[in-house]
Amino acid sequence: MPRREFDARLSDVKSVSVARARQVSTPPCLLAPLAARTFNGIMSARFVTVLCCALTLGARYVPRAAPALDNGLARTPPMGWNSWNHFHCDVSAQLIKETADALVASGMRDAGYRYVVIDDCWQVARDRTGRLVADSARFPGGIKPLADYVHAKGLKFGIYTDAGRRTCQGRPGTYGSEEIDARTFAEWGVDYVKEDWCNAEGLDPPTQYATFRDALAKGGRPIVFSICEWGSNHPWDWGPRTGNLWRTTGDISDRWASMIAILDLSSQYALAARPGAWNDPDMLEVGNGGMTDDEYRAHFSLWAVMSAPLMAGNDVRAMPPATREILGNKDVIAVDQDSLGVQGMLVQEPGIDLQVWSKPLADGSRAVVLLNRSGLQTVIATSWRAIGLTGPARVRDLWAHSDLGAFTGRFSATVPAHGVVMVRITPVTGG
Ligand code: GLA
Repeated sequence: MPRREFDARLSDVKSVSVARARQVSTPPCLLAPLAARTFNGIMSARFVTVLCCALTLGARYVPRAAPALDNGLARTPPMGWNSWNHFHCDVSAQLIKETADALVASGMRDAGYRYVVIDDCWQVARDRTGRLVADSARFPGGIKPLADYVHAKGLKFGIYTDAGRRTCQGRPGTYGSEEIDARTFAEWGVDYVKEDWCNAEGLDPPTQYATFRDALAKGGRPIVFSICEWGSNHPWDWGPRTGNLWRTTGDISDRWASMIAILDLSSQYALAARPGAWNDPDMLEVGNGGMTDDEYRAHFSLWAVMSAPLMAGNDVRAMPPATREILGNKDVIAVDQDSLGVQGMLVQEPGIDLQVWSKPLADGSRAVVLLNRSGLQTVIATSWRAIGLTGPARVRDLWAHSDLGAFTGRFSATVPAHGVVMVRITPVTGG
């Protein structure tokens, strides 16, 4: 890209960010990474420049920052299901087995949802040797046979613990028992561990999470490591070398305002994401009943454009067709799982509450989300300049599953209130 064009684009980006900063208290998605990282002394101006080029041009200029944990896992954002958002402490072996069955029967496993994760409340104590003990009423055979059941379904098995003294629900935590817990999980056949941060007063997150990372590595089993300290100690700085994903915020709730607040916060750290290391804006609420289907389509589209882990958080045993269609949208999942591994960003704000988010994909195309945060249906337009394309490009609507034809220079669509239009824009001549 000629230097002049690049400078012009950068100043567009800045003006979007500055305009947004005037409107809302949450820092803008583009300005924030620049500001936050300069502030932390992490990002050099050159790195930012290279990243902007990467976002504009695609695969050839993707920068890589600090070294990432190299456990070979989560090369694309992990996908699966987690019990917490819908079931909270009401977990059991039966629920997990029925969920595994439903993931297979619904086609979700084949759409990519592989990790079946039991969150808090499965554990009640430690035995005399210090090993964690599962609730025997809810998990009669213990955890190992359950992991075997999940594996036999062609799925992977995940579990939850806490880096502090007790979990958020008061169950035994891993602090001081890192080695034995990592060994136990490996013996049980665990493929994914989420480690929370409750009851950890006085402890240092980078140190505690690194201790468990090292213990997991000694266990000898490949285990995806999910850091869950809610973004309280800048995990986007040390998370990439410590785990495969790190929560960027507090807990999501099943409301539009919560989902949008998390979007604004989590998107600030886009530059930290890369294959094997992902920002985690929390698990999906799709299908839990607190948002409209348009809002859930927005939630799912935005998580995909942010390269977020896609962990379903609903009751997959009883999904209405609309929920299944949202969670099973292969066009949108392909955006999330794109091998380039760049997290999309806010690139345009054509009006108050109207945004354009864009993610460069490995084939040179762009995933683009036109987001209407307002309460009124409206038309949103994006320009090729904003998303870094030139010339004619084919546009595919990823929710209508239809090819809309070739466009040059701009694309616009009518977007429902609290909703999105999501498209994939592919240069006809390779851009
Ligand atoms: C914290 C986490 C949630 C969930 C609960 C379980 O709040 O952020 O995702 O794991 O604990 O108690």
